[in-house]
Amino acid sequence: MQYLVKSVIKETHDVVTLVLDAQNDTIEYEAGQFITFIFSNRNGKEERRSYSISSIPDEPLSITVKRVANGSYSRILVEKVKVGDVLTGLAPAGFFILPHTSRINSKNSFIFFAAGSGISPIYSQIKALLKSQMTERIVLVYSNQSKKDVIFYEQLMKLASDYSSLFSIYFFFSDESDYRKARLSSSIVSEILTKEVGNNKMNTWLYLCGPFQYMLMITIVARGMGFVNEQIKKEQFVIEYPSVTKVPPDVTAHTITIIEKGKQVSWISKYPDTILQSAKRNGVQLPFSCEAGQCGTCSATCVKGKVWMYKNEVLMEDEIGNGRILTCTGYPIDGDIELKIGSVT
Ligand code: FES
Repeated sequence: MQYLVKSVIKETHDVVTLVLDAQNDTIEYEAGQFITFIFSNRNGKEERRSYSISSIPDEPLSITVKRVANGSYSRILVEKVKVGDVLTGLAPAGFFILPHTSRINSKNSFIFFAAGSGISPIYSQIKALLKSQMTERIVLVYSNQSKKDVIFYEQLMKLASDYSSLFSIYFFFSDESDYRKARLSSSIVSEILTKEVGNNKMNTWLYLCGPFQYMLMITIVARGMGFVNEQIKKEQFVIEYPSVTKVPPDVTAHTITIIEKGKQVSWISKYPDTILQSAKRNGVQLPFSCEAGQCGTCSATCVKGKVWMYKNEVLMEDEIGNGRILTCTGYPIDGDIELKIGSVT
């Protein structure tokens, strides 16, 4: 898929929003999803990086990118990309999405926790929820180094003013001298949740996007207060590759059949190749990005047989119950399998 850069908006000293046009393709996505872009590194080897969409579907398609230390691709996107450039990428993907509208009602509250550029998918989700006006309460807890690092500050303040009875924001700045306004500690998370959720815990969703330790701390507090895993959605930016992968309970060869848009292709796969690795070895192109069970780009639906995953940090119980699997960490076990490739929605 080719994305034409229509405009470049400087958000902060190290963050830009790229407004994209998918040219001949129709792009469908949900608030909170990302686009995986495909680059060639210095050695000509293909590399992939994912960046969150910050627009909502009735706005021009936009991604927001922060330049990160040692991030050669984020540096290209933030410093070099200009209007008229064309980027190669996959269709939007990801499971960090809002519940289906049929599951949202006027009793629901959403508490969003974002750190730094973790605001990008959350900004899109907040706009989508405010537009729907279906919820009881929306709260954003947003941590940054300093006020100058806040992405979408003006836009967020305007939303808080336009929807003052529905939406409120807590800002935390590391350079604040008052420690209670500087760091999001576990006691402050607990205070915010107690104040904002009250007796409405069963109807509240928590959405977290930031560094691993930050999300872990919030998750521990929330779980301690009685939230269940299904109420806590997380998006992880830093990919962690497992140093040791577990061996599937069945390592014999099995046939994999992929069905996509009515066409099908089959090949024989054998451990240690995952489904994705064996597809690549057999010249079958499947979508992927992190290859570490963390992003969901490679997800497929298993319509026949059984898939065992050595790692899964994106699919929830109900999605697995509906047959969703990850090809990058999945192996066919106990017989042949059939997979359908397609959208999560
Ligand atoms: Fe990211 Fe499989 S490619 S979960």
